[in-house]
Parts: sequence; structure tokens; C-alpha cells
Amino acid sequence: MRGSGVILIVLIFGHLFVNLMLDGGIHAIDFGFVAGKYAAPFWQWWDVLMLWFALIHGANGMRTIVNDYVTHAGVRKVLVWALGLAAALLIILGTLVVFTFDPCNGVLEDGAMWETCQALVK
Ligand code: HEM
Repeated sequence: MRGSGVILIVLIFGHLFVNLMLDGGIHAIDFGFVAGKYAAPFWQWWDVLMLWFALIHGANGMRTIVNDYVTHAGVRKVLVWALGLAAALLIILGTLVVFTFDPCNGVLEDGAMWETCQALVK
């Protein structure tokens, strides 16, 4: 928990600094900004690592709390399993979203997003 805590400080505060403070800051965040980040492997891996570490750290911390406070063995087992399954599902879905993201998916040639998405996939 301490090791992942230190890694999370770097990942979370790096994420907040780049998204909210650099260049146009929070006002620059729109679809193009996010799609631009996901066109870069560096930011794909940054976000995926942040997702994995936050979910594993958070679910493991919740497991500690459940083990500390839930006295009924059966209920404890159900809750710990639910935590593990929820974390695993979110890790799989989030990782798929980051690595399969396609800014042109569903965008029509005469749509407002066409030029933005074409510039991103080049
Ligand atoms: C800057 C980011 C973070 C740092 C430095 C950090 C650090 C820590 C540390 C050192 C512990 C262990 C405390 C102990 O052993 O008593 C802990 C526990 C915990 N963390 Fe984090 N954490 C961070 C982010 C998160 C996030 C994003 C979540 C949720 C997704 C989370 C959820 C928890 C939970 C549920 C516990 C267990 C608390 C307990 O045992 O009572 N943390 N954290």
C-alpha cells in the first residue's frame, strides 16, 4: 500500500498538473484534448497505470476495511469477492477503452468532428 501510494502521488499529481495547469489549463479540455492524449502511447500507458494502481490500491484498502469491520464470515467473503470482481471488471473495461479508443468511431464525413478526428488519426 505504501509503495503503490508513492507511485499514485506521481501518477495522480502529474495527471492533474498536465490536464488542469499546463497550456490552456482546464479550459483546454474537450474531446480533441482527450483524443489527442490517447493518440500518444506515453499517455495511454500513464492513464492505464493510474487506473490499475488506483483500483488495486483502492480495492485492497477496502478489503482491509471489510476484514477489520465485518464480523460475519459469509458476508465478509461476499464483500471481498465483490470488491475483487468490481476492480477486475473496471481494469479490463478501462484498459480496453484506452487502447482501442478511436476518435473517428461514429463520426460522419459531414459531421462537426470530422476534421478534428481525421487530424488525430494521421
Ligand atoms: C496520492 C495518492 C494516494 C496515496 C499517497 C495513498 C496512500 C495510502 C497509504 C500509505 C495507505 C495505507 C495506510 C495504512 O497502512 O494504514 C492507504 C490506504 C488506503 N487507500 Fe490510499 N493512497 C492514495 C490514493 C488512493 C486512491 C485513489 C484510493 C481509492 C481508489 C485509495 C484508497 C485507499 C483505501 C480504501 C485505503 C485503506 C484504508 C485503511 O486501511 O483504513 N487511496 N493509502
